[in-house]
Amino acid sequence: MRISVIGCGYLGAVHAAAMAKLGHDVIGVDSDLRKIEELQAGRAPFFEPGLPELLEEAQASGRLSFTSEMSAVSTAALHFVCVGTPQRRGENAADLTYVNAAFSDLTPYLSEGAIVVGKSTVPVGTAGRLAASLAEAAPHATVAWNPEFLREGHAVSDTLNPDRFVYGVPAGHQGLAAVSALDEVYSASLAGGTPRVVVDYATAELVKTAANSFLATKISFINAMAELCEASGADVTLLADAIGMDERIGRKFLNAGVGFGGGCLPKDIRAFMARAGELGADQALTFLREVDAINMRRRSRVVELTRALLDGTLIGKRITVLGAAFKPESDDVRDSPALSVAAQLQLQGATVTVTDPQALKNAAQRFPELVFEQDTELALTNAEAVLLLTEWREYRDLDPIAVGGVVKEKVILDGRNILQPTIWREAGWTYKGIGRP
Ligand code: UDX
Repeated sequence: MRISVIGCGYLGAVHAAAMAKLGHDVIGVDSDLRKIEELQAGRAPFFEPGLPELLEEAQASGRLSFTSEMSAVSTAALHFVCVGTPQRRGENAADLTYVNAAFSDLTPYLSEGAIVVGKSTVPVGTAGRLAASLAEAAPHATVAWNPEFLREGHAVSDTLNPDRFVYGVPAGHQGLAAVSALDEVYSASLAGGTPRVVVDYATAELVKTAANSFLATKISFINAMAELCEASGADVTLLADAIGMDERIGRKFLNAGVGFGGGCLPKDIRAFMARAGELGADQALTFLREVDAINMRRRSRVVELTRALLDGTLIGKRITVLGAAFKPESDDVRDSPALSVAAQLQLQGATVTVTDPQALKNAAQRFPELVFEQDTELALTNAEAVLLLTEWREYRDLDPIAVGGVVKEKVILDGRNILQPTIWREAGWTYKGIGRP
């Protein structure tokens, strides 16, 4: 099938390459010329494991190309809209500028019977509104909403082998046409047994925001338990293991630590609350305010724990932060808890050096006031406290004896609870985890 992908960021670039791998003829469009140049040259414009290989394979097949010219999509039968929906400045609501612009820029190039498939995370009601305006401007076209559930760091496998497909479609023959077009796009996965759920627009939009809210709630739940563990001397990691053995609860997303960040969970729960308010259903989501508050409290808690580990003052202290990305296997620093903590420590008088295997370039753009060092050993040299805030494998595998030889003081705060406390303590370190005695 001839497909276009509008927006080639973390979602769209992977989606475009994956669709070409599935055998479709794909044109990716983005207004960012630098991104387009990189993608055209077969290079990934950001770090995502497996994406360079996927791009190379897709480019070699001749089925994938990129452009900044929207007119190039006119021969496509189906268009995926993959642009961002960031948080509006100074507000909780989502900024729909890019989604609205993608739809209006696309409209003049829609062929007879074209299907426009939104993948961006949008407030409930958006697909219906866009479909209504498209019905006037391009009555021969159909809108569908097909939310994306990919995780950064696993985006390639999540796109090629998703847990499920959700199609939000209109009633009647247009809906049937959208379902059969999407079935054709995803035929390989569907034949492999991936379930698909066909619903109305509102349900499809809500599936995405509800899923992210549930995940955020799970993380904040365990972080709230970490607060209680800290108050009572219990160990939140063992608590999570034990409650996670109940299949109804499950162990995944129960890792207490410095909390969630990134370009999705924080802004999605806020946009969800804002939309619920507009719909007069704000009471239903007041708990998400608490989920957000627990999450943000984690960051200040880590700052306080660091101060306590440094005899009550941060002023003049040399602190090394391991990790800048919001999670491992990503160079994304949007709302990164690690950087937020690093910046707070710096503001309160510490000298903070941040290291990360992939995210330093992005981190330096956002927080130029911090010191960045790519080499882990150099970053650790003479540190008076070490904070592990993003659980990259190389930090998980650090040797406490070797690291002990380069730091000034053997003090470590494990903000992701991934180190073995006994091994670090035996090597002479003061080890502090989150919600652990
Ligand atoms: C998320 C959703 O998982 C994905 O389905 C959706 O499409 C986009 O948003 P992503 O933002 O890539 O994906 O990251 P995710 O793996 O969900 O992690 C989010 C944050 O939660 C990270 O900062 C991570 O470190 C943190 N986290 C995750 C925890 O603090 N504890 C956990 O147990 C799990």
